[in-house]
Amino acid sequence: MKAIILSGGKGTRLRPLTYTGAKQLVPVANKPILWYGIEAIVAAGITEIGIIISPETGAEIKEKTGDGSRFGAKITYILQESPDGLAHAVKIAQPFLGDSPFLMYLGDNLIENQLSNYVEEFKNKDLDSLIFLCQVPNPTAFGVAQVDDKGRVLQLVEKPKNPPSNLALVGIYLFQPVVHHAINSIKPSPRGELEITDAIQYLINDKKAVSACQLDGWWLDTGKKDDLLEANRIILDACTDCQIFGALDDNSQAIGRVNIGKNSEIVNCTIRGPVIIGENCHLENSFIGPYSSIADGVRLVEADLEHSVVLQDAEVVGIEQRIVDSVIGQRAHLGIAPKRPKALRFMIGDDSKIDL
Ligand code: G1P
Repeated sequence: MKAIILSGGKGTRLRPLTYTGAKQLVPVANKPILWYGIEAIVAAGITEIGIIISPETGAEIKEKTGDGSRFGAKITYILQESPDGLAHAVKIAQPFLGDSPFLMYLGDNLIENQLSNYVEEFKNKDLDSLIFLCQVPNPTAFGVAQVDDKGRVLQLVEKPKNPPSNLALVGIYLFQPVVHHAINSIKPSPRGELEITDAIQYLINDKKAVSACQLDGWWLDTGKKDDLLEANRIILDACTDCQIFGALDDNSQAIGRVNIGKNSEIVNCTIRGPVIIGENCHLENSFIGPYSSIADGVRLVEADLEHSVVLQDAEVVGIEQRIVDSVIGQRAHLGIAPKRPKALRFMIGDDSKIDL
């Protein structure tokens, strides 16, 4: 069995962060989202992984993620020249996939459940495709399934205006090679893309064995700020251990599960976990509240924040008000103008959002 991870796309909903980087590399608890997917796939026993990349962000993904050896996997990178749809990505991965059954994983999805049980079910029941569904409050934003009372899938529609149910298609799919024939038989959708939803519908119409599983754990599609913060909260809740490699002075306290990386200095701070702080950070006279992830090289001086994600080499200096529910981009500087402390002075990137 092989796997492909789709890691292209423009990440428009995470702008401005995605102007300079791939959305799949935005960190959750200081680790790129994409890596959680790779680890979950390897944990399910699949080590031959193809990552579909785009010309815009492919080089960065390749450089950061490498050949897969750090995950115990062999990664092959496959370039998708233009964003022509999820089924198109499978089409160009055909030479890599050959006649192997495969798992397809959208690189910005995270699920709580382990994949191995589902892979077993797919094999044991001799299915042509196994898809995953999850109840959502906003089905119009997803592919949506209509199922009968026995759980069989009757119909799938991509981003419907009038959704037939609240069951969204999760971005994880299992296929037999018969899906390649389905993909070769479908036409681009009205938005001009070859939709994987249409290929699965083709399999259903062709009386192939398509089964759906409803996830009982959480599912996050991390393409938007609030989903990213939610993923950060859930992962910090589940995974933070208490490891302190950096140096805390006598006036600082770390309460609960706090993880501090090497060469980070903490001076006169209170840190209330779960919190993860990367390497080479400088934190002084600050309060860091629960569900915060502070990446490597960050400087926080006289800052007060919680439930926030601060990316690499960013700086927050002298902001007295509590910062909450925020994502602060790489190398961003947030401070007080020294001569006119009450005045606000900005140099804000395109598509930034600031609520004062
Ligand atoms: C894609 C699929 C959609 C699915 C979603 C899950 O949508 O087309 O069917 O529900 O992923 O994340 P996209 O996120 O590309 O808009």
